[in-house]
Amino acid sequence: MVVLKSHLYPLKEQSILVPVLQSISRPYNALTTIHQQYGDLVLGKVFNKKILFVSIPEHVEEVYSQEARGLLSRDFLYDAKKSLFGDGLINSKKDIWEDQRRIMQPLFTKEAITEWENIVISEADAAINRIKGEADGEINISRVLKQLIQKTFIKILLGISVDNISNKEELINSISTISKGLLPLMIAEIISNGKLMWFMPNKKRQYDEAVNQLKAFVEQEIANKYDQPGHDLISLLVQARDNKTGYTIPKDLIRDEAVNLFFAGQDTTVNTLAWFFYLIGKNATLHKKITEEVNKYKDDKITLENLGKLTYTKAALYETLRLYPSSSALATQAIADVVIGGQNISRGTTIILSTYVTHRHDKLWEHPNEFYPEHFANQTLAGKHKYAFYPYGGGLHNCIGRHFVEMEMLIIIVSCLRAFTFETNKEIKEAASITLKPERDVMVSITLRNA
Ligand code: HEM
Repeated sequence: MVVLKSHLYPLKEQSILVPVLQSISRPYNALTTIHQQYGDLVLGKVFNKKILFVSIPEHVEEVYSQEARGLLSRDFLYDAKKSLFGDGLINSKKDIWEDQRRIMQPLFTKEAITEWENIVISEADAAINRIKGEADGEINISRVLKQLIQKTFIKILLGISVDNISNKEELINSISTISKGLLPLMIAEIISNGKLMWFMPNKKRQYDEAVNQLKAFVEQEIANKYDQPGHDLISLLVQARDNKTGYTIPKDLIRDEAVNLFFAGQDTTVNTLAWFFYLIGKNATLHKKITEEVNKYKDDKITLENLGKLTYTKAALYETLRLYPSSSALATQAIADVVIGGQNISRGTTIILSTYVTHRHDKLWEHPNEFYPEHFANQTLAGKHKYAFYPYGGGLHNCIGRHFVEMEMLIIIVSCLRAFTFETNKEIKEAASITLKPERDVMVSITLRNA
């Protein structure tokens, strides 16, 4: 295991106003600059706010364990996120969160998610048939993925077909607008208690409109789940009951959780898959190696069990999540004086976990900035600390959708690679957005296999 050196002397407060302001337009460069300039653990000051940036796995683990002990809390962002997430899992405070997480967890176990396997398979097949007509040409894979994930997710969440929704295009766009608007909102909250947003009235207005549109859609769709529950996720939430306490989910929380899942479950998945096809499209040798493995099992029915055989393909997916973790920084706050990395951190300090920087740390990874699936040989971290790679977060608030989304992404990857090869020679950078997405749509040339 690589153990990186922690600071043995008190950290000096650094003025980081410039990189923090830059982070509104180039968040990943800003995080990298802060750590490159000042080290693995950085105590910064912006206006009157102290911010601790954490990048090495041992310190990440300390943060998660202090959070579990109630010494750190995410509540300082509650008001900023309230209009979108309400009291859903992503935003709720301790008591509501505990009840909700306990009642929702059983719906996301490895066993429970197999219910949704067939929906993903049939939507992936339909998407492949739609693009077959465009094979041997260039396609906008980002757009294909947005539509596919939207169709799949709405079927699972609400049990309806997206084709029956009149404003489906606007809904896709609203998620993008929210994702772009949430980043400045969070940064403004962290460094200026929200005041910085006064200088971006248009961004705020577009964000509010998109949030209202998403909430109106969700509210309308869940209204009839009470009269006619089906097998969709929202109906399961409506009917869920905690056997120990008898707790059931109040109606306004059903709406909040639906919005939370709608946002958390789509953008992250589309981004990861878009980066995956971009990365293999640029690297013919690795593409071939992954396709050879997929081919080896080409006659197997796609099931969760059979997907487990595709160790190299899964390693390539993890490698994509390493290079482009959808949540590339996570924020919490010290609500008591704490010690992290041997440093006394005072109450009120914001703590940023710099996932993007950990995932590309040159002391942790053989080829930090390259697409190198061998990093995950045998799908393990091969002796590395468990927080050298944490695209799904960690501690109490780890991603509830992890098992589902890994199944979903692998089904889509396998289905696509059985049908096509992908190629691109374009360079794409990261966009400024709360989730780490390509700055523009990914265009790839596709060739039909076995044509
Ligand atoms: C590639 C896809 C995904 C990635 C990379 C991802 C990543 C994450 C991360 C990093 C967190 C922790 C956030 C924090 O600590 O504040 C999180 C939480 C969460 N994720 Fe995901 N996620 C993905 C897909 C999904 C899907 C498909 C769903 C729903 C079906 C989902 C639902 C949630 C929810 C509800 C939370 C909040 C959990 C809590 O606070 O208790 N995610 N996710």
